[in-house]
Amino acid sequence: MFYEPKKKDHGLPKNPFNSLVIPRPIGWISSVDSNGLVNLAPYSFFNAICYRPPTVMFASGAGVADDGNKDSLRNVEMTGEFVCNIVTWDTRERMNQTSATLDNDVDEMALVGLTPTPSQLVSPPRVAEAPVHLECKHINSIEIPHWGDADRYVLVLGEVIGIHIQDDLITEEGLIDVARMRPVGRLGYNDYTEVSGDSCFTMIRPP
Ligand SMILES: Cc1cc2nc3c(=O)[nH]c(=O)nc-3n(C[C@H](O)[C@H](O)[C@H](O)COP(=O)(O)O)c2cc1C
Repeated sequence: MFYEPKKKDHGLPKNPFNSLVIPRPIGWISSVDSNGLVNLAPYSFFNAICYRPPTVMFASGAGVADDGNKDSLRNVEMTGEFVCNIVTWDTRERMNQTSATLDNDVDEMALVGLTPTPSQLVSPPRVAEAPVHLECKHINSIEIPHWGDADRYVLVLGEVIGIHIQDDLITEEGLIDVARMRPVGRLGYNDYTEVSGDSCFTMIRPP
């Protein structure tokens, strides 16, 4: 089949787009507002985009607050800081709970029983239950050309200025043990995948 997204003529019961670019990593973004109130939400339009300096992005859709933004975007633009907590098998349910549409005075980390732990270089706390944390400084935001306010997405770029790795994820050879980490990825619809030992394979790049 072929369809043109703008014509919305795929003819399928659900938009297939986010079932095609898969799996997507999940950035579980912690941020604080100007009063220090903590916010936590998952974003799967999220990725690492370059090595040096290590840089990440997430894209925030329209929110329900008066300004039309989601809390994560508003906080990051206000304070210039955020943390990407990596979602794993053990935290998958609580990650999902933190995606609920809640008033902006709700601390999702406390609500779902996660443990805030101080970051080294930025104000937003890290999720102690996550094995990897990327402390980020906001670089800039880019509004993506859109078809209407309901489809408005803003791309947030952040430089990773501090990285925490749970010590037992590092093997004796100094490599990251992905099978032990068990990161979770987003598929389409309400589906997810887990990176396990069985799902990994190695290929050597040609010179
Ligand atoms: C796995 C998962 C991935 C999500 N990815 C995104 C995303 O990339 N962009 C987005 O705008 N919302 C995404 N959402 C929805 C937000 O998490 C949700 O709107 C949340 O309430 C936003 O919270 P905030 O207003 O505190 O930032 C996702 C939800 C889930 C469960």
